[in-house]
Amino acid sequence: MSLIELKKVTYNYPLDNEPVIKEVSLSLEKGKVYGLIGNNQAGKTTLCNIIRGFIPSLFFGELAREVMYKDKPVQTYNVGALAAEIGYSSQNPFTQISGVKDTVEEEIAYGMENIGIEPEIMKVKVQELLKLFALEALKEKNPYELSGGQKQRVALASVVALDPEVIILDEPTSQLDPQSTEEVFQIIAMLKEQGKTIIVVEHKVDLLAEYCDVVILLEDGRVVKCGETHQLLNDRTILAHGGSLP
Ligand SMILES: Nc1ncnc2c1ncn2[C@@H]1O[C@H](COP(=O)(O)OP(=O)(O)OP(=O)(O)O)[C@@H](O)[C@H]1O
Ligand SMILES: [Mg+2]
Repeated sequence: MSLIELKKVTYNYPLDNEPVIKEVSLSLEKGKVYGLIGNNQAGKTTLCNIIRGFIPSLFFGELAREVMYKDKPVQTYNVGALAAEIGYSSQNPFTQISGVKDTVEEEIAYGMENIGIEPEIMKVKVQELLKLFALEALKEKNPYELSGGQKQRVALASVVALDPEVIILDEPTSQLDPQSTEEVFQIIAMLKEQGKTIIVVEHKVDLLAEYCDVVILLEDGRVVKCGETHQLLNDRTILAHGGSLP
């Protein structure tokens, strides 16, 4: 049974003449890791925003056909309820910092505070996350003083803190060095162990080959390939559609 289902979804941003997502059908199962690849402007971020219900509710425009989460259309969920189930870390770590907290430690706790987690539980959780994301030495720092890669780790920790069922990571390693990149994928593997469903937009196909169950290749708003990772990443025909081989 699929957790997330898109049925021939087409989407047009307001004022645009042409749709940027075209007849996309996908069926995503619980507990799997999905790698989303494709050229720049292929529509990867737009597709993430469709899955988490932010399109069309926040971006407006015309969305045709259906996106289902747990067998119910996403638009029937309350925005807050859906956000609690589907976590998202943005492609741009700069927009991900709340701006209302003075330290990394408080920043990670911020989302938990908002959903009313008990302070005692929260403290323990924050310490765990600082450790997991190698942020202990930075916990007193102002989030704005961090490097891009450090911000990216804080953003990820803040998403994981809320324990969502689905985690969408939009280019989570773009600012990270190879070592931290590998660590992010190890965290993805750990989240999968916990039964989470993960969608990761990523250009580093070597890591996708190692950690993903399924790869989805988007080209100009269409899903041109979707399949089991090893099969798809050994298929030379993806090179002609903006894909690359490990
Ligand atoms: N808010 C917006 N309003 C109008 N058009 C948009 C908006 N955001 C993106 N687009 C357009 O939608 C298309 C797909 O963009 P999107 O950001 O989804 O692609 P992407 O695959 O994530 O690209 P990248 O690899 O650069 O992150 C592009 O042509 C882009 O210009
Ligand atoms: Mg993008």
